[in-house]
Amino acid sequence: MARFVDVHSHVVPSGDDGAKSVEEGLALCAEAARRGTRALYATPHVWPQLPLTQDRERDVRAAHAALVAPAARAGIDLRLGWELTPSAALLDEDPARYRLGGLAAVLLEISFRGPAEPARLLGEHVEGAGLVPVVAHPERAESVLANPGIAVGFAERGWLLQVNATSLLGRHGEEEEALGWRLVEEGLAALVASDGHRAARPAALDEAYELVLARVGEGADALFDGSALAPLAGADRLDLAERR
Ligand SMILES: [Fe+2]
Repeated sequence: MARFVDVHSHVVPSGDDGAKSVEEGLALCAEAARRGTRALYATPHVWPQLPLTQDRERDVRAAHAALVAPAARAGIDLRLGWELTPSAALLDEDPARYRLGGLAAVLLEISFRGPAEPARLLGEHVEGAGLVPVVAHPERAESVLANPGIAVGFAERGWLLQVNATSLLGRHGEEEEALGWRLVEEGLAALVASDGHRAARPAALDEAYELVLARVGEGADALFDGSALAPLAGADRLDLAERR
């Protein structure tokens, strides 16, 4: 059984479209563990319309704290980060607030619709704070689908491209599937993550792992075991991978 590091999920209730309760979050963690995940980053959305107020952050951290022990009993090392949707307000904040657990990295998405420019500005803001942008599901962004060179440019500057397992499984559409595979097969993707939200869209990596293994061979492991995060690990243990 592979041991996956999943850098993107919505298993901690936060008022967004992910888990609605600690109980639902725990069920998602148990399912993730059953399917081979060992370290799971919960990354509640930080949307322009749902920013991270102090009250919201307190509630999310409390929900995460309530989940850590039961998740560990289920076999999941549950960590907390955030998924940033670009906004002007975020450019005025210290990106360190939004780190992925103890990693020197911040997860941000390119808006599904509209230009990629706000994501570039946010990525540069993150970079300016000495952190590495992890770019969530570029294959799902309209701007990147129209011009994949945007994602290539981000990868070339050392930003980590995170493709969704569900894109590779064709769950977000044919174009997204094709671009996700292109990023994987051309070696531009650094990570595959679940972006799991709910039971019908679980935090699962096993099916995508088998497909990637069949297509790219041994290189598959590095996309699923958090290898790309190792230089940024700080306090977070990532040496969970059990080589097959
Ligand atoms: Fe997400």
